[in-house]
Amino acid sequence: MSLPAVAQATAPGKLILAGEHAVVYGAPAIAFAVDRGTTVTLRRRPGPTGITAAPFTDARLGAALAAALPGEGVGVSIESDLPVGRGMGSSAALAIALVRAAAALEGRTLSPAAEHAAGFAVEAVFHGTPSGVDHGVCGAGGCVRYRRSADGPVFARLPARSGLGLWVIDTGAPGETAEMVAGVRARRPAIDPALAAIARLVDRLTALWCAGAPAAALGPLLDENHALLQDIGVSTPALDAAVGLARAHGAGGAKLCGAGGGGVVLALSPGPGLAAAAAAQGWAAFPVGIAPPRG
Ligand code: PMV
Repeated sequence: MSLPAVAQATAPGKLILAGEHAVVYGAPAIAFAVDRGTTVTLRRRPGPTGITAAPFTDARLGAALAAALPGEGVGVSIESDLPVGRGMGSSAALAIALVRAAAALEGRTLSPAAEHAAGFAVEAVFHGTPSGVDHGVCGAGGCVRYRRSADGPVFARLPARSGLGLWVIDTGAPGETAEMVAGVRARRPAIDPALAAIARLVDRLTALWCAGAPAAALGPLLDENHALLQDIGVSTPALDAAVGLARAHGAGGAKLCGAGGGGVVLALSPGPGLAAAAAAQGWAAFPVGIAPPRG
């Protein structure tokens, strides 16, 4: 069998509905894949493996490629419509698209478990010791409840809800995930009660989500999760202001998403005018959909 000269794969980005940071310590989180993503194209070529085109620069890209590809013979082109470093899974989508494309270039398809393990090696280059929720949901698509256990990742697929009016406000400021995770770790055990409260909140939100509760019922839990993320020290004045703006424009609830220290806010069902009000602050606000589960 001759191997392909070119291989391409795509993976969606993600948003964490609830449970970030607590998930690092074994608590569950709920996350969904979004209708934006990253495509990786690999072309065999002579010489060292390297980037031929990418929408961003990152000193860690070389190490990320080395985690998935041979050192020689591959040109890598990356396209993405995910904002980078904002909690929308740009590195996780890259990790999954890269390992899928790398397998395809070798004429293979990865099982979900093998894909998760290979994606972890790439994600670890960016995030040190990730919980796995980000590249887990980017690989799985749809909406999942995720927990890491001593025996490995535990996934439960949740219904992919529609009609919730999911909006993102991108404050434009990147957050550094590894730094934020290290900060939370340093504040333990003083913040452990807040981490435990996040875990309990995820259980309540899972039940409501699965029961088909409307945005008006889910929203207060997002507000509560944001307050707990403030308590563990990962929000910023800009994120708090973006949450306030969403609520002022009728959102049923809003919270920062991802590691914090910058990045995006998720708002549930805001009324009209949010995009213009966000633009007046120099932020982008846009609706986001849940990407379908992987086939
Ligand atoms: O900022 P992001 O999108 O990389 O989200 C990280 C989620 C954390 O829970 C903060 C870290 C992790 O590894 O789960």
